[in-house]
Amino acid sequence: MDAPFRWQRREELPFTKENFAALLDNEIPALRIRGFASQAECKQFIGAMDGANMQYYRLAPVGYIGTAQVEYRWGKSKADYFEACARAWKDWHYVVDRSWNPLERMMKMVADLTGKPTRVADEPEGRCFAGIIRKASKGTGRHVDYAPMNTPGWNIARIDQQLGWNLFFEAPLVGGETTIWNKPWNVKAEAGKEPPMSYGLGNDAISGAESWTYKAVDGDVVIFNTRNPHEISGGKDGRERLQIGSFIGRMPDRSFVFWS
Ligand SMILES: [Fe+2]
Repeated sequence: MDAPFRWQRREELPFTKENFAALLDNEIPALRIRGFASQAECKQFIGAMDGANMQYYRLAPVGYIGTAQVEYRWGKSKADYFEACARAWKDWHYVVDRSWNPLERMMKMVADLTGKPTRVADEPEGRCFAGIIRKASKGTGRHVDYAPMNTPGWNIARIDQQLGWNLFFEAPLVGGETTIWNKPWNVKAEAGKEPPMSYGLGNDAISGAESWTYKAVDGDVVIFNTRNPHEISGGKDGRERLQIGSFIGRMPDRSFVFWS
């Protein structure tokens, strides 16, 4: 039995070059950028969502604008994904063009902080989608997001670390928390084969692991290492958990790619 992983510091740290590197190495649980967006910017963005094409998953009470690559790992083709991306960018621009662009702001901040190039991820077949807008007020199940193991064979599977950032436009004051377990996912995945299921993870995926729970706060960005199992609890006060975010993957040349 391997010794459990231990974070070197069990706290939420600010967005500095050292802390960003520590998060990539899974030495700390999370980073928070307080006031990434002003309250006025949050309101403006929510207002711009009026009339947008919000879709809902068949099985989960989660609304979204854009598309999630996770949906195209099982039973769908890569071509299906890029077809969805074209529609996703159109729906997304409806909101962003009438307000402001959080994705662009985040990509610039990561580039400035690390001194490395950032870009939206691409594959030989086309450009990925990044910056999904989500309404997940009832929470989500336990899962991991790590492209080398759940998207083998894709260009994004060449990354060696995967982070996720989310900006919260509105967040529950009670509930709506994210819990992260320090137990990086480690399964066998092969190109051309169905990847292992990364959603609905049981207790074996987190047994013996320390955890960290963070609160979503209006205007803040929180970043964590999504190779660790994580889940979101339901909001309990009627407020929405309205957010935008994407993954940040580190490529072999140390540049960063963004996708959702
Ligand atoms: Fe996730």
